[in-house]
Amino acid sequence: MGDFLDNSGFFTITTFFCRSLQLVVRPRFDVARAGDLSAIREILCLPNPLEIPPFSKRGIDLREVKMKIIIAFISAVMVFGFFSLPFQRSMAAAEEIPPAALAKAKSTAEGLMKDLIGLLFSTLDAEGPSGAVRICAEVAQDRTARHAREGIYVRRVSQKVRNQANRPDAIELQQLEQLATLHQQKKLPMDLAEVRAGSDGTRQLHYLRPIVTMERCLACHGPRDKMEPEVRELLSRRYPDDQAIDYRVGDFRGAVSVRVPLEK
Ligand code: HEC
Repeated sequence: MGDFLDNSGFFTITTFFCRSLQLVVRPRFDVARAGDLSAIREILCLPNPLEIPPFSKRGIDLREVKMKIIIAFISAVMVFGFFSLPFQRSMAAAEEIPPAALAKAKSTAEGLMKDLIGLLFSTLDAEGPSGAVRICAEVAQDRTARHAREGIYVRRVSQKVRNQANRPDAIELQQLEQLATLHQQKKLPMDLAEVRAGSDGTRQLHYLRPIVTMERCLACHGPRDKMEPEVRELLSRRYPDDQAIDYRVGDFRGAVSVRVPLEK
């Protein structure tokens, strides 16, 4: 009888469906319903179920119909399995992350965050925003570098930077875009970790820890017209290409990026 999806196959399924419908509808068939159904049938170009003779009288083998339904079901399962393969592969990759390297990346990112936030908040309290700008500008890079121990790479990155030294590379940019999308969908994870091979064949754990904007950040990262005049002046003098403004509380601000070398 040819392929399952050819016209005769489609017709078989349609008539099979109509026969089932006929069994359900027929006992309670009244004039109003007959009118409704025939209108629907006309729109959908379906045959009148009452005029279709049963399978046995049309020489259609019921076993063949059943076989076709089974084949369709098996094909659907195979197609689904094929498309879900890449998903399974990425899950497997996630399992391959060495726990010791992941723990190192996590503690490095947390250590840097705590250090910088502690420094920022204590200077904000002691000297106000303009004093804190100076500290941030002069100390943040140096403090960050201090957390890079045992060949571990660590820094802050963002899609909109104030300091050009914090611009993401191609991999970080891709990871930041991924996090920004998840944040938009209200699914921002605690962190992002993946193993990647460099051009020289060495493998590294690439770890990103998202940073979300808080109330206290707005003094220096909110809209320019809401900043203290002295802060605005200091920032525009030090960072003429400053993009890190106009944030609101809860916005995705950037991430701490950590890379841990892995043994071959
Ligand atoms: C007193 C002003 C001030 C406040 C308040 C402040 N920042 Fe910043 N921020 C800066 C300056 C100055 C820089 C650029 C210096 C550097 O870090 O290299 C910066 C840089 C950053 C960077 C690095 C990326 C970039 O744009 O260069 C991130 C991430 C960041 N800030 C996040 C925050 C978060 C989150 C808060 C709130 C918890 C915050 N900042 C509060 C002044 C501030």
